[in-house]
Amino acid sequence: MEVIRQAGAIRSLVQALRCSGKQIGFVPTMGALHQGHLALLRASAGQNDVTICSIFVNPTQFNNSDDYKLYPRTLTQDIELLEAAGCDYLFAPDQEEIYPQQPLLQFSFGPLEAVMEGEHRPGHFNGVATVVSKLFHIVHPHRAYFGQKDLQQVAIVKQLINGLSFDVELVRYPIVREADGLAMSSRNKRLSPEQREVATSLYKALQLARAQLLQQPVASIKATVAAYLASINQLTPEYFEIAHPDTLQPVAEVRDVQEVALCIAAFVGPVRLIDNILVNLNRL
Ligand code: PAF
Repeated sequence: MEVIRQAGAIRSLVQALRCSGKQIGFVPTMGALHQGHLALLRASAGQNDVTICSIFVNPTQFNNSDDYKLYPRTLTQDIELLEAAGCDYLFAPDQEEIYPQQPLLQFSFGPLEAVMEGEHRPGHFNGVATVVSKLFHIVHPHRAYFGQKDLQQVAIVKQLINGLSFDVELVRYPIVREADGLAMSSRNKRLSPEQREVATSLYKALQLARAQLLQQPVASIKATVAAYLASINQLTPEYFEIAHPDTLQPVAEVRDVQEVALCIAAFVGPVRLIDNILVNLNRL
């Protein structure tokens, strides 16, 4: 696998590959790779001739400076994992390469960014949209792979692609979980063994809610989940939402829809985690 640091070098490479008829798959990441990322890479390798991964811890999407400073950075190990997973090229730019000037463009995603992650992390999706736009322009892939764990990010990128007519196919890939249900995340690396145990409560809360979807009104499901989360030490819930799977707007009555997204965010100690499940109500 070749590691490329310069945007110009990736651009020329992709131009040549496209001229020779190759299909390019792209997996954008912030590194600290885990099995969830590797599943995206394998999906890309199965559907494209060439797979490019990027690793760039994007400062503009962090609304909390500690979260940015403490975000795990494990490039040497990541390179080994990418090589073993059959990735063809890694684009690993430094900050100057992506942001030669202070980014001033502002994105607006309307109601989609007014809820959940958008509501609790002001500026986050502006930073995501900025860097994803830049990466799409630089890497110019046919397909881009995003994990469902960041469900709202997937919806934002979909809106970005449509809004700016990017010629990129968005592929959403299911969440990869540990054996006990914890959704894989780079931030899990920051959990102590005790916090790692506590972190399974997010998935348990989602399962608790799922079991009540056809039995209880939305308000009482939310109350049950809130009571469950409040009973757990070292866990500070941020939100639990029953949302429409595409618009991500809160659902008032479950009987009005066919499918819902159950979404949760909580701090475990100092580490903020998110998770979600999609539930088809006809299959409950
Ligand atoms: O999901 C991530 O890792 C990041 O938000 C992304 C898409 C690489 C943009 O920085």
